[in-house]
Amino acid sequence: MTIPFLEVDTLTMRFGGLTAVDALSFRVEHGEIHGLIGPNGAGKTTTFNMISGFYTPTEGSIRLRGEEISGLKMFEVARRGVVRTFQHSTLFAELTVLENALVGTHMPFRPNIFAAIVGWDTEDRRGAHARAMESLDFFGIAHLAGERAGDLSHGHQRALGMAVAMAAHPDVILLDEPFTGMNPEETNRMMELMRRLRESGVTILLVEHDMHAVMGLCDTITVMNFGRLLTEGTAQEVRHHPDVIAAYLGGTRHVA
Ligand SMILES: Nc1ncnc2c1ncn2[C@@H]1O[C@H](COP(=O)(O)OP(=O)(O)OP(=O)(O)O)[C@@H](O)[C@H]1O
Ligand SMILES: [Mg+2]
Repeated sequence: MTIPFLEVDTLTMRFGGLTAVDALSFRVEHGEIHGLIGPNGAGKTTTFNMISGFYTPTEGSIRLRGEEISGLKMFEVARRGVVRTFQHSTLFAELTVLENALVGTHMPFRPNIFAAIVGWDTEDRRGAHARAMESLDFFGIAHLAGERAGDLSHGHQRALGMAVAMAAHPDVILLDEPFTGMNPEETNRMMELMRRLRESGVTILLVEHDMHAVMGLCDTITVMNFGRLLTEGTAQEVRHHPDVIAAYLGGTRHVA
């Protein structure tokens, strides 16, 4: 039997009396774009928070290549190659675009941001600088390297969030609503970049409400509702599934 690449196993997160994620299980294959969708409040971000080490699960397990990663700290998870972006921008608004990307390059090595910016030797710095610029270039924002991050347009901030994550050269990237606030042209450009990431061997776990992007990108889609697994399948299977349609019609958003 082959060991699953990334496996979430009966994962549960309780906040007081509220069960935000309830015995959720799914597997992510290496090199795929795997969607995690569901109505508002379904538990998607909470699931990301557990996989990335931001929260310790109440119960359950998360295995990467068969190795337990649940309960590890965020930088320890990042060191193992799993990096996430945040749903709401957590860029350092006062730092430049390049400085933000530099923080990303050191995420796997040093948890302390101040050390990441000042405490490294010349070799480190050159390598990190090259990786940061390469990542900014990939996302089409290298020309903005000297700008204050807080001054960027919304679409560019989303791109920077991804560039910061990719500067760490992760094996797995968790993207929480990366298309929010993007116009159709920006969305299509970002979809193309995600396909290129997949081609380069990066595994992508994507939380997104933009169904055009989800259906156009994902190899497999896991659908959550009220913290639980609702169904799983290809885009075609999921979009016509009666339970999925019912869940979305009951909420505020519709499946495209
Ligand atoms: N830190 C927390 N403390 C208490 N409750 C929380 C916390 N984080 C999330 N929740 C609750 O857990 C549930 C799941 O929230 P979560 O943010 O994971 O949903 P989501 O699927 O990401 O929704 P959206 O699509 O709106 O981003 C919600 O009821 C939310 O209010
Ligand atoms: Mg969310």
